[in-house]
Amino acid sequence: MRIILFGGPGAGKGTQASAICARLGIPSVSTGNIIREAIAAGTPSGKEFKTYTDKGELVPDSLVIDMLKERIGRPDCENGYILDGFPRSVPQAEALEEMGVEIDAVISLEVSDAEIERRMTGRRVCPKCGESFHIVFNPPKTDMVCDKCGETLVQRSDDKAETVRERLRVYHSQTEPAKAFYEGKGKLLKIDGSGPVEEITARIFQALGI
Ligand code: AP5
Repeated sequence: MRIILFGGPGAGKGTQASAICARLGIPSVSTGNIIREAIAAGTPSGKEFKTYTDKGELVPDSLVIDMLKERIGRPDCENGYILDGFPRSVPQAEALEEMGVEIDAVISLEVSDAEIERRMTGRRVCPKCGESFHIVFNPPKTDMVCDKCGETLVQRSDDKAETVRERLRVYHSQTEPAKAFYEGKGKLLKIDGSGPVEEITARIFQALGI
Protein backbone atom coordinates (compact mmCIF):
# COMPACT_ATOMS: atom_id res chain seq x y z
CA MET A 1 0.00 0.00 0.00
CA ARG A 2 1.07 3.58 -0.63
CA ILE A 3 -0.41 5.88 1.98
CA ILE A 4 -0.18 9.64 2.52
CA LEU A 5 -0.49 10.96 6.05
CA PHE A 6 -1.58 14.60 6.40
CA GLY A 7 -1.84 16.53 9.64
CA GLY A 8 -0.65 19.76 11.20
CA PRO A 9 2.66 20.00 13.04
CA GLY A 10 2.44 17.63 16.00
CA ALA A 11 -0.87 16.13 14.86
CA GLY A 12 0.60 12.67 15.47
CA LYS A 13 1.77 11.71 11.97
CA GLY A 14 5.05 10.17 13.18
CA THR A 15 3.32 8.36 16.05
CA GLN A 16 0.61 6.86 13.83
CA ALA A 17 2.99 6.15 10.91
CA SER A 18 4.94 3.95 13.30
CA ALA A 19 1.81 1.90 14.14
CA ILE A 20 0.73 1.56 10.50
CA CYS A 21 4.25 0.49 9.48
CA ALA A 22 4.31 -2.19 12.17
CA ARG A 23 0.91 -3.47 10.99
CA LEU A 24 1.66 -3.46 7.25
CA GLY A 25 5.41 -4.15 7.28
CA ILE A 26 6.16 -1.19 5.04
CA PRO A 27 8.58 1.71 5.74
CA SER A 28 7.62 5.21 6.77
CA VAL A 29 9.16 7.92 4.63
CA SER A 30 9.29 11.09 6.71
CA THR A 31 10.69 14.09 4.84
CA GLY A 32 11.04 15.83 8.21
CA ASN A 33 13.30 13.01 9.48
CA ILE A 34 15.37 12.99 6.28
CA ILE A 35 15.82 16.76 6.58
CA ARG A 36 16.82 16.49 10.26
CA GLU A 37 19.35 13.73 9.43
CA ALA A 38 20.97 16.02 6.82
CA ILE A 39 21.05 18.88 9.34
CA ALA A 40 22.63 16.64 12.02
CA ALA A 41 25.23 15.41 9.52
CA GLY A 42 26.13 19.02 8.69
CA THR A 43 25.99 18.44 4.93
CA PRO A 44 25.75 21.51 2.61
CA SER A 45 22.06 20.65 1.99
CA GLY A 46 21.54 20.22 5.73
CA LYS A 47 22.90 23.71 6.38
CA GLU A 48 20.51 25.12 3.80
CA PHE A 49 17.53 23.14 5.21
CA LYS A 50 18.21 24.50 8.69
CA THR A 51 17.67 28.09 7.55
CA TYR A 52 14.06 27.13 6.73
CA THR A 53 13.21 24.65 9.50
CA ASP A 54 14.48 26.96 12.26
CA LYS A 55 11.95 29.56 11.11
CA GLY A 56 9.13 27.03 10.75
CA GLU A 57 9.04 27.53 6.99
CA LEU A 58 8.87 24.83 4.31
CA VAL A 59 12.06 23.76 2.56
CA PRO A 60 11.72 24.76 -1.15
CA ASP A 61 9.69 22.28 -3.24
CA SER A 62 12.47 21.54 -5.73
CA LEU A 63 14.84 20.31 -3.00
CA VAL A 64 12.24 18.18 -1.21
CA ILE A 65 10.83 16.63 -4.39
CA ASP A 66 14.28 15.37 -5.51
CA MET A 67 14.95 14.02 -2.05
CA LEU A 68 11.62 12.17 -1.93
CA LYS A 69 12.06 10.73 -5.41
CA GLU A 70 15.43 9.27 -4.46
CA ARG A 71 14.06 7.81 -1.20
CA ILE A 72 10.99 6.05 -2.64
CA GLY A 73 13.16 4.61 -5.41
CA ARG A 74 15.07 2.48 -2.88
CA PRO A 75 14.39 -1.28 -2.66
CA ASP A 76 12.65 -1.16 0.75
CA CYS A 77 9.87 0.93 -0.84
CA GLU A 78 9.10 -1.64 -3.54
CA ASN A 79 6.04 -3.03 -1.72
CA GLY A 80 4.69 0.31 -0.53
CA TYR A 81 5.31 3.03 2.05
CA ILE A 82 3.74 5.68 4.19
CA LEU A 83 4.49 9.28 3.29
CA ASP A 84 4.70 11.25 6.55
CA GLY A 85 4.96 14.98 5.78
CA PHE A 86 4.92 14.79 1.99
CA PRO A 87 3.29 16.30 -0.03
CA ARG A 88 3.06 19.57 1.85
CA SER A 89 2.12 21.89 -1.01
CA VAL A 90 0.13 21.60 -4.26
CA PRO A 91 3.32 21.54 -6.41
CA GLN A 92 4.57 18.58 -4.31
CA ALA A 93 1.26 16.71 -4.81
CA GLU A 94 1.47 17.38 -8.54
CA ALA A 95 5.08 16.19 -8.62
CA LEU A 96 4.03 12.90 -7.01
CA GLU A 97 1.45 12.42 -9.78
CA GLU A 98 4.03 13.26 -12.43
CA MET A 99 6.30 10.56 -10.98
CA GLY A 100 3.46 8.12 -11.73
CA VAL A 101 3.00 7.18 -8.06
CA GLU A 102 -0.40 5.52 -7.42
CA ILE A 103 -1.67 6.43 -3.96
CA ASP A 104 -4.06 3.95 -2.27
CA ALA A 105 -5.19 6.08 0.66
CA VAL A 106 -4.81 9.61 1.97
CA ILE A 107 -5.34 10.05 5.69
CA SER A 108 -5.77 13.39 7.39
CA LEU A 109 -5.33 13.55 11.16
CA GLU A 110 -7.68 16.31 12.31
CA VAL A 111 -6.44 18.03 15.48
CA SER A 112 -7.20 21.54 16.77
CA ASP A 113 -4.45 24.17 16.90
CA ALA A 114 -4.84 24.42 20.70
CA GLU A 115 -4.25 20.67 21.14
CA ILE A 116 -1.25 20.87 18.81
CA GLU A 117 0.42 23.58 20.91
CA ARG A 118 -0.17 21.42 24.02
CA ARG A 119 1.44 18.37 22.42
CA MET A 120 4.51 20.12 21.06
CA THR A 121 5.77 21.37 24.41
CA GLY A 122 6.03 17.82 25.78
CA ARG A 123 7.41 16.12 22.71
CA ARG A 124 10.77 14.32 22.90
CA VAL A 125 12.29 12.63 19.88
CA CYS A 126 15.00 10.11 19.14
CA PRO A 127 17.83 11.79 17.18
CA LYS A 128 18.90 8.37 15.84
CA CYS A 129 15.75 6.59 14.60
CA GLY A 130 13.24 9.48 14.65
CA GLU A 131 10.73 7.81 17.03
CA SER A 132 8.49 10.35 18.77
CA PHE A 133 7.36 10.40 22.43
CA HIS A 134 5.51 12.75 24.79
CA ILE A 135 6.57 13.17 28.41
CA VAL A 136 2.94 12.82 29.62
CA PHE A 137 0.78 11.34 26.84
CA ASN A 138 3.19 8.80 25.31
CA PRO A 139 6.21 8.40 27.60
CA PRO A 140 9.11 6.05 26.81
CA LYS A 141 9.44 2.96 29.03
CA THR A 142 12.68 4.38 30.51
CA ASP A 143 12.88 8.12 31.14
CA MET A 144 14.46 9.97 28.16
CA VAL A 145 15.55 6.72 26.43
CA CYS A 146 14.21 5.60 23.05
CA ASP A 147 12.16 2.37 23.31
CA LYS A 148 13.19 1.40 19.79
CA CYS A 149 16.97 1.94 19.68
CA GLY A 150 18.12 3.00 23.18
CA GLU A 151 19.38 6.47 22.17
CA THR A 152 18.91 9.43 24.55
CA LEU A 153 15.85 11.49 23.60
CA VAL A 154 16.04 15.22 22.81
CA GLN A 155 13.69 18.17 22.27
CA ARG A 156 13.44 19.40 18.69
CA SER A 157 14.80 22.89 18.01
CA ASP A 158 11.65 23.83 16.04
CA ASP A 159 9.33 22.96 18.96
CA LYS A 160 9.65 26.44 20.53
CA ALA A 161 6.24 28.09 20.96
CA GLU A 162 6.77 30.88 18.38
CA THR A 163 8.14 28.43 15.77
CA VAL A 164 5.18 26.10 16.35
CA ARG A 165 2.80 29.01 15.66
CA GLU A 166 4.61 29.76 12.39
CA ARG A 167 4.49 26.06 11.41
CA LEU A 168 0.73 26.10 12.05
CA ARG A 169 0.35 29.19 9.87
CA VAL A 170 2.34 27.52 7.07
CA TYR A 171 0.24 24.36 7.43
CA HIS A 172 -3.03 26.27 6.99
CA SER A 173 -1.79 28.38 4.08
CA GLN A 174 0.33 25.88 2.09
CA THR A 175 -0.50 22.31 3.14
CA GLU A 176 -4.28 22.50 3.45
CA PRO A 177 -4.58 23.29 -0.29
CA ALA A 178 -2.61 20.05 -0.96
CA LYS A 179 -5.09 18.20 1.26
CA ALA A 180 -7.94 19.74 -0.75
CA PHE A 181 -6.22 18.44 -3.91
CA TYR A 182 -6.90 14.85 -2.72
CA GLU A 183 -10.32 15.68 -1.29
CA GLY A 184 -11.30 16.85 -4.77
CA LYS A 185 -10.29 13.41 -6.07
CA GLY A 186 -12.45 11.70 -3.40
CA LYS A 187 -9.39 10.08 -1.78
CA LEU A 188 -9.25 11.89 1.56
CA LEU A 189 -10.08 9.97 4.77
CA LYS A 190 -10.54 12.43 7.64
CA ILE A 191 -9.69 10.88 11.01
CA ASP A 192 -10.38 12.48 14.39
CA GLY A 193 -6.83 12.87 15.73
CA SER A 194 -7.85 13.63 19.31
CA GLY A 195 -7.92 11.16 22.20
CA PRO A 196 -5.55 8.35 23.21
CA VAL A 197 -2.94 7.22 20.65
CA GLU A 198 -4.33 3.64 20.49
CA GLU A 199 -7.88 4.87 19.78
CA ILE A 200 -6.66 6.97 16.87
CA THR A 201 -4.67 4.00 15.54
CA ALA A 202 -7.84 1.88 15.70
CA ARG A 203 -9.77 4.56 13.74
CA ILE A 204 -7.05 4.56 11.06
CA PHE A 205 -6.94 0.76 10.79
CA GLN A 206 -10.72 0.70 10.43
CA ALA A 207 -10.70 3.40 7.74
CA LEU A 208 -7.96 1.52 5.86
CA GLY A 209 -9.67 -1.85 6.37
CA ILE A 210 -6.49 -3.42 7.80
P1 AP5 B 1 8.10 17.42 10.15
O1 AP5 B 1 9.08 16.67 10.94
O2 AP5 B 1 7.29 16.68 9.15
O3 AP5 B 1 7.20 18.25 11.16
P2 AP5 B 1 5.63 18.49 11.28
O4 AP5 B 1 4.76 18.23 10.13
O5 AP5 B 1 5.57 19.85 11.85
O6 AP5 B 1 5.18 17.35 12.18
P3 AP5 B 1 5.86 16.85 13.41
O7 AP5 B 1 6.95 15.89 13.09
O8 AP5 B 1 6.24 18.03 14.26
O9 AP5 B 1 4.70 16.13 14.20
P4 AP5 B 1 3.91 14.78 13.93
O10 AP5 B 1 2.62 15.07 13.25
O11 AP5 B 1 4.79 13.71 13.34
O12 AP5 B 1 3.55 14.43 15.43
P5 AP5 B 1 4.19 13.40 16.46
O13 AP5 B 1 3.74 12.01 16.13
O14 AP5 B 1 5.64 13.66 16.63
O15 AP5 B 1 8.82 18.63 9.39
C1 AP5 B 1 9.72 19.50 10.05
C2 AP5 B 1 10.15 20.59 9.12
O16 AP5 B 1 10.83 20.02 7.98
C3 AP5 B 1 9.01 21.43 8.52
O17 AP5 B 1 8.64 22.50 9.35
C4 AP5 B 1 9.65 21.91 7.20
O18 AP5 B 1 10.51 22.98 7.42
C5 AP5 B 1 10.48 20.71 6.77
N1 AP5 B 1 9.76 19.79 5.87
C6 AP5 B 1 9.39 18.50 6.14
N2 AP5 B 1 8.75 17.96 5.10
C7 AP5 B 1 8.69 18.93 4.15
C8 AP5 B 1 8.12 18.98 2.84
N3 AP5 B 1 7.47 17.94 2.32
N4 AP5 B 1 8.25 20.14 2.16
C9 AP5 B 1 8.91 21.20 2.67
N5 AP5 B 1 9.45 21.21 3.90
C10 AP5 B 1 9.35 20.09 4.63
O19 AP5 B 1 3.39 13.85 17.78
C11 AP5 B 1 3.65 15.11 18.38
C12 AP5 B 1 3.70 14.94 19.92
O20 AP5 B 1 2.39 14.62 20.41
C13 AP5 B 1 4.61 13.78 20.37
O21 AP5 B 1 5.21 14.15 21.58
C14 AP5 B 1 3.65 12.61 20.56
O22 AP5 B 1 4.12 11.67 21.49
C15 AP5 B 1 2.39 13.33 21.04
N6 AP5 B 1 1.17 12.67 20.62
C16 AP5 B 1 0.94 12.00 19.45
N7 AP5 B 1 -0.33 11.54 19.43
C17 AP5 B 1 -0.91 11.96 20.59
C18 AP5 B 1 -2.21 11.83 21.15
N8 AP5 B 1 -3.17 11.15 20.54
N9 AP5 B 1 -2.47 12.40 22.36
C19 AP5 B 1 -1.50 13.09 23.03
N10 AP5 B 1 -0.24 13.24 22.54
C20 AP5 B 1 0.04 12.69 21.35
